[in-house]
Amino acid sequence: MKLFDVYPLNNITITKAQGSYVWDENGVQYLDMYGGHAVISIGHTHPHWVKRIEEQIEKIAFYSNSVIIPIQQELADKLGKISGKENYQLFLCNSGAEANENALKLASFHTGRKKIVAFKKSFHGRTSLAVAATDNPSIVAPVNETDNVIFLPFNDEKALEKCFNANGKEIAAVIVEGIQGVGGINIAKESFLQLIRSLCTQHGAVYIADSVQCGYGRSGKFFSHDYAEVDADIYTMAKGMGNGFPVGGILIAPNIHPKYGMLGTTFGGNHLACAAALAVLEVIEEEKLVDVAKQRGMYLLNRLKAIDEIKNVRGRGLMIGFDVPEEIKDLKKKLLFDYNIFTGEAKPNVIRLLPSLSITRKQVDEFLETLKEAIAELKPTAAPVDTIQKDAE
Ligand SMILES: Cc1ncc(COP(=O)(O)O)c(C=O)c1O
Repeated sequence: MKLFDVYPLNNITITKAQGSYVWDENGVQYLDMYGGHAVISIGHTHPHWVKRIEEQIEKIAFYSNSVIIPIQQELADKLGKISGKENYQLFLCNSGAEANENALKLASFHTGRKKIVAFKKSFHGRTSLAVAATDNPSIVAPVNETDNVIFLPFNDEKALEKCFNANGKEIAAVIVEGIQGVGGINIAKESFLQLIRSLCTQHGAVYIADSVQCGYGRSGKFFSHDYAEVDADIYTMAKGMGNGFPVGGILIAPNIHPKYGMLGTTFGGNHLACAAALAVLEVIEEEKLVDVAKQRGMYLLNRLKAIDEIKNVRGRGLMIGFDVPEEIKDLKKKLLFDYNIFTGEAKPNVIRLLPSLSITRKQVDEFLETLKEAIAELKPTAAPVDTIQKDAE
């Protein structure tokens, strides 16, 4: 049987991983500045994570949500404490799309309304409503097309106000990434998120903070939306939550009330997923990874800004992007195949850096040195690039 061919693959087979490195079948080592697509939060195969999963699997891996699963409550308590959202409620699922699907559905149940406001360049997943709220017509199947989603320009406060003035009574939710990931690392302005909060409150709509990529400490705060210092009604999470173990979830404000059968899933919240997610939070707490992401990210961002050949360096914490000019357009490929460094991308010309939050200063320096070398090789006539300053962070 053939695999359904939907992924344009790099001809590389990864067989081993540790921390911020992975190795291929020939033993070649790669620096992972991509974090397996922003998924690796505490580092590949972190020993505490491995131990937690091993210990859990020996006891019980799965039983359905028809019985009490105490490790779910343990996870909720820890997540409440670390995220600072202790009075929220947790619903567990398995992926980012599922988290957003449930959040949007819940907002509609809660308000009795149908319209969703989403933004240009957004990505919220590939299931029915999540993909309808995603600004990419090429992945929206005819059956997913709906008039219920209104797309507005990102960070456009006037357009948002106008939309609420015209449709306020029909809007169930606004869904917004704190930092757009797939869209190319675009930061939501604090005043924009504050306006979303106040308009949602004023018109009885639900503010959904898609934190699937920008959440879980990556931005230097637990949720990147926290930079605006207002609370969303629902936070959606996945990616970094399990460090590679598939687990997602939504945090739900206390004024949104549950009803039996309103949401549900077979696999969501299984024992093994909860053990993996708890291990991640324990390591985030123990190794102070939210602060590390902030410091290391700032260091990386500032050093990148000093490289003239790359443009528009932006981001927060360890969620960083920059534009790659046409003359060095093969930079990503060169980094991977000549220098063994994985990076992410956003079409058409953005390199996205999404490393593990536990990446070391030395590994960041290793990346910066190599990046400069690769740029110099692609642009052989350019003046020699500076060497890295190894002083203050
Ligand atoms: C912001 C955001 N939301 C949702 C998703 C969908 O997550 P998943 O692929 O786990 O369904 C992604 C995935 O890239 C994402 O970046």
